[in-house]
Amino acid sequence: MVIKALAPNGGTGEFSYSKNSYFQKQNLSVVESKIEEEIQKKLDVNKLASASNMIIRIADLGCATGPNTFMNAQNVIEGIKHKYQSQCPNTETEPEFHVFFNDLPSNDFNTLFTSLPQDRSYFAAGVPGSFYNRLFPQSCIHFAYSTLALHFLSKSPEVVQERNSPAWNKGRIHHTGASKEVVDAYATQFGEDVGKFLDARAMELVPGGMLVIVMSSVPNGMPYSEVASGMLFDCMGSILIDLSKEGLFDESEIDSFNLPCYASSPEEMRKVVERNGKFSIERMELTNPMPLLKNIQTLIPDWITHVRVVMDPIFSRHFGNQVTHQMFQRLTKHLLDKVQVLETKYRDKTQLFVVLQRKE
Ligand SMILES: C[S@@+](CC[C@H](N)C(=O)[O-])C[C@H]1O[C@@H](n2cnc3c(N)ncnc32)[C@H](O)[C@@H]1O
Repeated sequence: MVIKALAPNGGTGEFSYSKNSYFQKQNLSVVESKIEEEIQKKLDVNKLASASNMIIRIADLGCATGPNTFMNAQNVIEGIKHKYQSQCPNTETEPEFHVFFNDLPSNDFNTLFTSLPQDRSYFAAGVPGSFYNRLFPQSCIHFAYSTLALHFLSKSPEVVQERNSPAWNKGRIHHTGASKEVVDAYATQFGEDVGKFLDARAMELVPGGMLVIVMSSVPNGMPYSEVASGMLFDCMGSILIDLSKEGLFDESEIDSFNLPCYASSPEEMRKVVERNGKFSIERMELTNPMPLLKNIQTLIPDWITHVRVVMDPIFSRHFGNQVTHQMFQRLTKHLLDKVQVLETKYRDKTQLFVVLQRKE
């Protein structure tokens, strides 16, 4: 599979992911205790460790540059240690931990490695590649998680760019507010991508191993235009149309660009998991992502910066740096002008939390 997606801004500067990922950090804090609970209830650490020479292998799929990935690794390791201690209270040996940090090859792995916590209690390795492909040898991972990454598709669906297709997404950059054909094309791409993701993980995880997914979502049946992020994508599209009318680029550039993002509903995710058939669904629920719930007006500038550090590379590759810069510059004002509409948009249960276990 050709990798068409791009990693967020690297480094540690003003517009880096490492300096602008505290919204995501707050979103992850909502699921921390739920992950711990699932480990305590369902993960047979004693069995997994005994069968692997007391080495527990953990993978973060779509890790970016930190610090969130380090927090995730630490929390999972703490949870697994607690479980092991409760299963084997009299033992003096503890498992050793090997954490694999995966992201696209364009991710800034240098920043990731240079900021690894000094006092970590695990061995670290980087794994470049798309998580829609195989990343590890067969049956070697005990615990894998992917946080706030699986809503990035491997690519935008091809039919939405084809002029003669009923799914041609003319004048838009996303399926928000688009025709049913466009929405269906995105949903199909999501199904194919996550199908591949699960096929690969089913090969890599040991029987009894756990796979946790946290990603953007929508309640079953809710159109994306009702969600705050849907409005954000719509605004980006209309600013780009303005910029093309001002002569910065040809409007056809908008027709050939579609954001490769899809927030699936729990129902859609359930179907993909069931089709794969190799995992039991231990938990699947919608959670509230924290930051945008209150005071959205005051949060708009920070929200846009957080979006920018993740999406800048995707827009810049297509529209160039200048247009991308202008679009993000205008976006804050655009949303502030429409804040009353934004306040009516749905912002509650838009984060999906899924815990799967590899069947024996
Ligand atoms: C918003 S960041 C989330 C980073 C981190 N997991 C967190 O929770 O803060 C999404 C990450 O997913 C990565 N990503 C997107 N598509 C990917 C793919 N196909 N394979 C591996 N990583 C991918 C991006 O490069 C980016 O680093």
